[in-house]
Amino acid sequence: MSWFSNYARSSVGAKHIMAVTGLALALFVFVHMLGNFAVYAGQDAMNGYAETLKSTGAFLWLARLGLLATVVIHIAAAVRLSVLNKAARPEKYRMFKPIRSSFHARVMPWTGLIVFAFIVYHLMHFTLGTFYYDYYSAVQELPGGATRHDVYSMVVQGFQIPAVALSYVVAMVLLCFHLAHGMTSFFQSLGLNHPKYNAIIRYAGPVYAAIILIGNSSIPIAILAGAVDLPGA
Ligand code: HEM
Repeated sequence: MSWFSNYARSSVGAKHIMAVTGLALALFVFVHMLGNFAVYAGQDAMNGYAETLKSTGAFLWLARLGLLATVVIHIAAAVRLSVLNKAARPEKYRMFKPIRSSFHARVMPWTGLIVFAFIVYHLMHFTLGTFYYDYYSAVQELPGGATRHDVYSMVVQGFQIPAVALSYVVAMVLLCFHLAHGMTSFFQSLGLNHPKYNAIIRYAGPVYAAIILIGNSSIPIAILAGAVDLPGA
């Protein structure tokens, strides 16, 4: 077995891999949120942004594959770590009262699973058009006769359905729990914590998670409240 495979299967290696892939995913979520804010700038801004992304062709596919690989590696490292932790905790120690970890830490596998389910649902919704195909297939007519995917109308019509808007807000709350613990343990897993900065590190996760929760949830809430409407409405 190569040194890397030995390292990746060890507890320290799995922790490092989970931390680095987790950070990459958290950064993706932040950048994606900034892109989603184009909805507040209107139909032209959002559709133009989506069109520019799609025009990168091979680069977009490379980024998508990289993202998919990062998700798979993150989950595999989490499973490995959980197997190793269970193996290192013999039954006989059950008699001792375990040290209570935070609520966020204990629910990490569950919030992780739900966030994963959300990503599948989200891709089926906005990327594949599996649900609400009429909204997904909207096109914007441009001066000169050209057309492009009307991502703006797809998002606005999607979130005008209260159950859909609510499902996104609930998913963002669970993502927030996951990020709140994940972003703080990133520093611990990589040994980057320092007594001088521990107070800041402790709040890094919750603050980051709150920014994502407020930023992303603002979109379905604003649309449901009628603050962002269809073109010409
Ligand atoms: C309210 C919050 C969100 C909104 C409004 C939103 C909106 C969108 C839209 C409109 C697309 C399709 C873009 C297009 O076809 O041009 C998309 C794709 C995507 N979203 Fe989101 N998103 C949100 C939250 C998230 C979160 C939290 C994640 C990850 C945890 C995520 C992951 C993705 C991924 C992986 C894609 C596929 C990108 C691609 O096709 O290359 N989104 N999102």
